[in-house]
Amino acid sequence: MRLRLRVNGVERTAADVWPGESLLFTLRERLGLPGTKNACEQGECGSCTVLLDGVAVCACLVAAPQAAGCDVTTVEGLAHGEALHPVQEAFVEAGAVQCGFCTPGLVVAVADLIAHNRHPSDVEIREALAGNLCRCTGYEKILDAVRMAVAKAGAA
Ligand code: FES
Ligand code: FES
Repeated sequence: MRLRLRVNGVERTAADVWPGESLLFTLRERLGLPGTKNACEQGECGSCTVLLDGVAVCACLVAAPQAAGCDVTTVEGLAHGEALHPVQEAFVEAGAVQCGFCTPGLVVAVADLIAHNRHPSDVEIREALAGNLCRCTGYEKILDAVRMAVAKAGAA
C-alpha cells in the first residue's frame, strides 16, 4: 500500500508499505529518517519516541497505516537547520549523551514535556521520562539536561 503522511512538516509518501509494519520501520527504512532508534521493538525502551499528531508515542507500537494522514515529528524535525533545539543543546552541554542510542527518544520526550509543562518538578520529569531507558548515564546527567532545557525554555 501507499502511505501518505506529513513528517516534520513535509508531505511524504511511502510506497510498498506492508499493513503490519511499524511506523518505526517506515520512518527508518522507507523514508530515510534513521534518527528514531530501534532498540527493543516492544514498547519497552522509548528509543523510538516520536510525536504523532502531537502525542508522544513509541513508533514501534504504531502500525504504519494508523499514521496515514497524520503529522509525525521525529528528532530530525526538532532542529531548525544548523540550529539545535534547546533540548538538544542542553543534552550536549550537560554531557547527557554517551552511546547516544537513547538520546533521540529522550530529546523528543523532553521537548514534549516542556511544551506542555514549562516548569516541571523533578518528580514530573522522572514520571514523564519513565518510559525512556538509558543503559549508560545513570540518569543524573539526563536530569541535569532536562533542568537546563527547562531553564532555556524559561529564558526564551
Ligand atoms: S524500540 Fe520502541 S520502545 Fe523500544
Ligand atoms: S546514552 Fe547509551 S543508552 Fe543512554
